[in-house]
Amino acid sequence: MKVLAVNSSPRPKGQSRTLLMLESLLKGMKEAGADVETVNLREKEVRYCTGCYTCWARTPGRCAQRDDITRELLPKFLEADMVIYASPLYQYTVTASMKAFIERTLPAFLPYLEQSRGAFYHPLHGRYPVAVMLSVAGFPGLEVFHQLSGWANYLFGRNGRQPGVKLAAEIYRTSSQMMVFVAEKLEDILNATRQAGRELVEEGRVKPETLARIQQPLDEDATVLEMANLSWRSCIEAGLTPAQFEKRGRALRPDSLKTLMTVLKIGFNPKKAAGRKGVLQFNFTREVTGSCYFRVADGRIAAFEGQADRADLKVDTAFEVWADIIAGKIDGAQAFLDGKCRAEGDIGLLSIFGK
Ligand SMILES: Cc1cc2nc3c(=O)[nH]c(=O)nc-3n(C[C@H](O)[C@H](O)[C@H](O)COP(=O)(O)O)c2cc1C
Repeated sequence: MKVLAVNSSPRPKGQSRTLLMLESLLKGMKEAGADVETVNLREKEVRYCTGCYTCWARTPGRCAQRDDITRELLPKFLEADMVIYASPLYQYTVTASMKAFIERTLPAFLPYLEQSRGAFYHPLHGRYPVAVMLSVAGFPGLEVFHQLSGWANYLFGRNGRQPGVKLAAEIYRTSSQMMVFVAEKLEDILNATRQAGRELVEEGRVKPETLARIQQPLDEDATVLEMANLSWRSCIEAGLTPAQFEKRGRALRPDSLKTLMTVLKIGFNPKKAAGRKGVLQFNFTREVTGSCYFRVADGRIAAFEGQADRADLKVDTAFEVWADIIAGKIDGAQAFLDGKCRAEGDIGLLSIFGK
């Protein structure tokens, strides 16, 4: 099977979550024997369709323009058995470059109008690759893909409305910016995406259970929202773009009891917590006054505000000290040695946090 992956994220590898997902999908496809090629639209000259209809009336199947679409991409598109349309969600749909690419595939159709199942369509000029829509979005909540999905289904004639045109799968991932902070889930999401690649080649579809793993929520919506907003506040405060913030290895610094609870919850490492069980109580003073506790059992963590009935570890400290430890600005062990933090109980419980 010949697969053409068209990636329309304007961001490079290392930043682009579309590319992160796409690379896992393609890995799976290659493992299943597909011959795969990726095209990054940000590196290509893609002009807009001018609507001249030369490709329909004067030189059927051939576009009048000369750019990377006519020189390279349309021939590759028409040769492919499957095309992965990989686009970040921009204003609830594909990026402008992906839209331009799709518009420029008009020569693949004939001008005539036909009708099937109550809808009109243009019949195909020749062969047309099976479509897979892959997209990532910053928001949590799959409803963010509602418009894109409706459009993709119409465009690619779902349910056999248009002969020869098929949408084999829609792979949508929410919380794209935050997902890299939740290492355990990220690993499972990328493994499932790789599995989806294998399934697409072997069965021509993605199994519902694989899709469910790809689309698993990172955390409760409120937690993801809290993290996203903290990360934006951190960037704005530092005067850095998100990419610069990540590149400089900056860690998020909590600025409230709520964000501290969120960052610790997200920073919980189930692997390190394996077999550990207990309650960690934190009491903060100064910058932020308040208490919270975490209940750890069976590789899971739950966060609560206030005082626990009983605790296996109690930490008393100034809020700013703990926030600086989390942000990597000061060393945690040194903070205890310097008396900036006081611990009572099983201090080893702290090892459940971090990579
Ligand atoms: C211009 C623009 C529009 C966006 N529109 C949406 C949107 O409608 N819904 C959403 O959830 N995220 C939106 N986002 C966030 C992106 O989908 C998210 O950051 C994604 O990870 C970008 O893909 P990339 O990482 O491959 O570049 C938008 C981002 C930009 C820059």
